[in-house]
Amino acid sequence: MSAHDPPKANNKEGADDQQQQQKLVCVTGAGGFIGSWVVKELLRRGYRVRGTARDPADGKNAHLLALEGAKERLTLCRADVLDRDSLRAAFAGCDGVFHVASPVSNDPELVPVAVEGTRNVVNAAADMGARCLVFTSSYGAVHMDPNRSPDAVLDETCWSDYDYCKRTQNTYCCAKMLAEQTAAAEAARRGLRLAVVVPCVTTGPALQRALNVSTNHVARYLTGARATYPNAVAAYADVRDVARAHVLAYERPAARGRYLCIAAVLHRAQLMAMLRELFPQYPVTARCEDDGKPMAKPYRFSCRRVKEDLGLDQFTPLRKSLYEAVVCMQRRGHLLPVIQQHHQRASL
Ligand SMILES: NC(=O)c1ccc[n+]([C@@H]2O[C@H](COP(=O)([O-])OP(=O)(O)OC[C@H]3O[C@@H](n4cnc5c(N)ncnc54)[C@H](OP(=O)(O)O)[C@@H]3O)[C@@H](O)[C@H]2O)c1
Repeated sequence: MSAHDPPKANNKEGADDQQQQQKLVCVTGAGGFIGSWVVKELLRRGYRVRGTARDPADGKNAHLLALEGAKERLTLCRADVLDRDSLRAAFAGCDGVFHVASPVSNDPELVPVAVEGTRNVVNAAADMGARCLVFTSSYGAVHMDPNRSPDAVLDETCWSDYDYCKRTQNTYCCAKMLAEQTAAAEAARRGLRLAVVVPCVTTGPALQRALNVSTNHVARYLTGARATYPNAVAAYADVRDVARAHVLAYERPAARGRYLCIAAVLHRAQLMAMLRELFPQYPVTARCEDDGKPMAKPYRFSCRRVKEDLGLDQFTPLRKSLYEAVVCMQRRGHLLPVIQQHHQRASL
């Protein structure tokens, strides 16, 4: 059986699986990059799914209705995380809630959407009798601490330094820290099982049409929009693994707390080299910004919990994930081949 085959249903365990999969679950932010793959994974495993969007009729959500199983088992409903009544309606009858929706932005005005939105989601889920909440955090809530030893192995006990994030205007990391802490406090208060998936920069093919922040992280180097790359290190995971971690965290009754989901850690120079090797036709920069500092060292993470406790034992290799992300962007017209770009410039 491959990692993507549905579980077999020919014994008692199989019958339990089948019962489990007919349950109704809700995914907030269903139309986004990660949300769409969580919906797809849930449908593939036989669940009935309700997806929330602020405007379900918007064409940007149309891809969801084309997913296999969507006709029979997916409904979309309007909900804003700042409107608790809309969330209660969305969660009615749901056994599990996947809270994926969040602004992915450094705009300080959007912090309350992440934090108060999470408070509303936890309470609406508890009000409506859900048994489990899976919350999407970010490794931005884990690794941002300049005082940590470069030899440290980061795990689920690590938190970013909030004051450092604030000082360096990493408002998104502050928002994710506060939102995750709010989820933990509110879920404990309401007696709701909480599992937190902690992805890093998430790549891979998109189901939605628009570029999200993490796919744009790669696209801007391919289009030549970035003339230099920073002296920085980042961690990467494939969106299909991240989605699977969400569903496994819901399905394992003992799953609680944080699960780091990280496949590879690369200096940006290594990412540039990989992109150049895979797609030599794009003008990927070879020039590092000179920040006067020595080359940033890749930090290390332990993903023992996601591997051993959730059973996500194999991550998609980054090379495959990046390749498929780029091919998908090409198909969607996000990356005009360089030859075409030259041609266009010449004809302007
Ligand atoms: N992509 C990554 O590399 C990465 C890494 C770590 C963590 N994460 C986390 O993963 C989650 C999804 O990220 P993504 O990359 O998939 O982002 P995305 O494609 O931009 O999706 C974000 C979703 O949030 C929803 N949203 C924003 N404001 C909302 C509001 N006020 N009420 C309801 N929904 C709202 C949007 O829904 P509408 O359709 O209503 O606009 C959208 O579906 C976020 O929690 C993010 O912090 C992402």
